[in-house]
Amino acid sequence: MAILLTGATAATMEGGYGLIPDAALVLEGDRIEWIGPGSDLPDDYAGFPARDLGGRLVTPSLIDCHTHIVFGGTRATEFEMRLNGASYEEIARAGGGILSTVKATRAASEDDLVAAALPRLDQMLAEGVATVEVKSGYGLDAETETKMLRAARRLGQLRPVTIVTTYLGAHAVPPDHKGRADAYLDEVAIPTLRLAQAEGLIDAVDAFCEGIAFSPAQVERLFTEAQALGLRVKLHAEQLSNLGGAALAARFSALSADHLEYLDEDGVIAMAAHGTVAVILPGAFYTLRETQLPPIDLLRRHGVPMAVATDCNPGTAPMSSLTLAMNMACTLFRMTPEEALLGATAHAARALGLADRGRLAAGLRADLAIWDAKTPAELSWRIGPTPLHARIFGGQIDR
Ligand code: NIG
Ligand code: FE
Repeated sequence: MAILLTGATAATMEGGYGLIPDAALVLEGDRIEWIGPGSDLPDDYAGFPARDLGGRLVTPSLIDCHTHIVFGGTRATEFEMRLNGASYEEIARAGGGILSTVKATRAASEDDLVAAALPRLDQMLAEGVATVEVKSGYGLDAETETKMLRAARRLGQLRPVTIVTTYLGAHAVPPDHKGRADAYLDEVAIPTLRLAQAEGLIDAVDAFCEGIAFSPAQVERLFTEAQALGLRVKLHAEQLSNLGGAALAARFSALSADHLEYLDEDGVIAMAAHGTVAVILPGAFYTLRETQLPPIDLLRRHGVPMAVATDCNPGTAPMSSLTLAMNMACTLFRMTPEEALLGATAHAARALGLADRGRLAAGLRADLAIWDAKTPAELSWRIGPTPLHARIFGGQIDR
């Protein structure tokens, strides 16, 4: 099955937008066979069934590299509490926050979790997303953590999307281990990591390094286990304070360090040295009304690739629009629309360790988004419905 697309404005995302005006693309099977200026199209492809895109923008499908879309319940009540004066940390320490979602997630069946996540996933797909990372972390016991991961894997069977799973057993200390984070790691988080890995449920390991969660020393113990199992790591780091989490993650050659509002230059340098991607999450910044900006300029200066993601979760980022996250990255953090689009494509792929997507080039996966747009900046500019015209997943046109 081969398709020839002509008349495209292609943003290849190779070294920036990598724009090719009046481009042609040849898709064969689930791969991009050829891409370049239409005038250079080799004769062999000229007879393929063609579709003229009339100048429409074509980008790699978007990649949401940091989400928590599998969870039970909502957190609207806590949203209201925050508006009545309580802080995120106060709510967390009082047993709310992540722990209230843990309660609802434990009570939900695997089917319930899949059903609750599908509308969130469907919004992502409608905005041109084709790869979504999904974290566990609202179970904090073996049964619920693996239930979440199985639900995440099922999403990938139900929709044309690649789901990448991340084990986040060290997200919070559950009430049964209150004040005993080390015991929780030894008795629950690490054994569950081994169990989930043996079941083939995880692609990477994450943790929340923060005063209200796990210390750098505890994260280091978890990462050592992950490494022994051959799993890559990533970290929620420097979101509410600077504990040196990003540098720790970098020492473990982490795929990414995420949030990073309180990151300092030493952390940036460590990330640059180890190729750790900075995942920028403006939705959480916005929801928490954070005022400390992530050090975008330092990341730029040291050449750390920046990804942008929704962080879709019930507490700090109740949103599933990646293009809104791109818009926020530009408006709140002064990232450029080019950086934002790289952040949702090429750099997001890197943050997931996926070399076969995120750019338009021969040999890569034919995951494409075709937009009713002329310029790539439109994708970050608009607040509201994304102008997706068509979506191609693994060479198949699906909408
Ligand atoms: O990415 N920072 C920790 N984890 C999530 C929040 C989870 C929650 O509040 O439910 C985050 O912001
Ligand atoms: Fe998160």
